[in-house]
Amino acid sequence: MSVLFIQSPSKETPRMSTSDTMAHAPQPVAQPSQPTPAPVASASVPVVPPVAPQPVRPVAPSRVAPTCLGLDVGTMNLVCARANTLGKIEIASLRNVFLTVEDVHIEGMDLSKISHARIDDGVFILSHDAYNFANIFGYRLSRSMQKGMISPEDINSTDILAVMIRELLNLEPGSKPGKCVYSVPGDPVNSKSNVLYHRNILGRIITEIGFEAEPLNEATAIIYAECADSDFSGISISFGAGLTNVAVVYKSIPVLEFALGRGGDWIDDNVALAVGTIPNRVVAIKEKDFHLDRFDMGRKKERKVREALGFYYKNLIQYVVKSALQELDRRDLDLGFPNRIPMIISGGTSLAGGFLDYIRAQVEEVAWPLELSEVRYAGDPLSCVAQGCLIKALKQ
Ligand SMILES: Nc1ncnc2c1ncn2[C@@H]1O[C@H](COP(=O)(O)OP(=O)(O)OP(=O)(O)O)[C@@H](O)[C@H]1O
Ligand SMILES: [Mg+2]
Repeated sequence: MSVLFIQSPSKETPRMSTSDTMAHAPQPVAQPSQPTPAPVASASVPVVPPVAPQPVRPVAPSRVAPTCLGLDVGTMNLVCARANTLGKIEIASLRNVFLTVEDVHIEGMDLSKISHARIDDGVFILSHDAYNFANIFGYRLSRSMQKGMISPEDINSTDILAVMIRELLNLEPGSKPGKCVYSVPGDPVNSKSNVLYHRNILGRIITEIGFEAEPLNEATAIIYAECADSDFSGISISFGAGLTNVAVVYKSIPVLEFALGRGGDWIDDNVALAVGTIPNRVVAIKEKDFHLDRFDMGRKKERKVREALGFYYKNLIQYVVKSALQELDRRDLDLGFPNRIPMIISGGTSLAGGFLDYIRAQVEEVAWPLELSEVRYAGDPLSCVAQGCLIKALKQ
């Protein structure tokens, strides 16, 4: 495989400070504060006594603290969390989607303004640019991952994923890579697939970039990010694109981790089939002010999509609550913890309006083998897995 380059002119990975969304997350270890630079004297203002210019002393490489990162490798979104020099967490993300150039019919066009990669003989449009092109022209997006793991459908999946991860983990000049804790799903129940291949390939990709790679279950990462108040005990459900991941964690030790084979993609595919459209058109509507019980928005086709989304959303929530309960019972564990634990709801699929109320009602209807103190959202359902991974990376 030869990867020639990735070009990302549109600055796809804006870093946003998430300090406002971090109310529940333990703060990472603050980086040593930077010395305040001496004020620069203006030429017209005499400075008394004159200060001789100080030679800039290069920092010995051994004194630069390695940069630790948290990386959420999701079927739809790749999210990276890092601590800035003030100890605040910064988040960057990329959509984990691509288009091959033959599909887009833009051969011979100037690609300098489009995020793309050349791999072997192929050219691939990546991430947000791929998503936008697909929506404008009605193309079906390709994915490097499927159901939480590397997709076996495209021979280039691993290479494309590696290019996007390299872009996301990019370090400032002068920084050196430290530990990168990356998310992996649990083994899906009722399925022959398991995460071993996926986990090892990601470990190899991250190691090749120069980091020390360590896997962490996606749902367990949510407890690390969200449950400092309950001594890192809780049950988390991550409603992603490819899978729904569940973990029960007691005092930071995972007691149970598993995945269910339905998520946002299952909703999109079913809605697209039901109303006769392509899944990415459904995604565009779903991510725009969708509410489980409100369909009266947009033109006729959009209203039909919204109505179908409501049916499949409710079905997904019922399926997850029922299956999680069955799985907890089946494992026959003693989950009689001394204190009640919170249930944390997270993942992009949980962002739909009315989701939390609906799942609360479903959870309350059944008898759980553990006592719940509350059912609440994670502080930031799209980045808390990456934040939990970062917290683990910084703890060591
Ligand atoms: N505002 C929104 N309303 C409804 N759904 C949304 C919203 N934003 C994102 N989603 C959906 O959430 C899913 C992506 O969520 P997330 O980033 O948690 O998944 P992922 O981590 O990439 O996938 P997985 O964990 O299954 O591998 C997609 O199906 C996306 O369409
Ligand atoms: Mg996820």
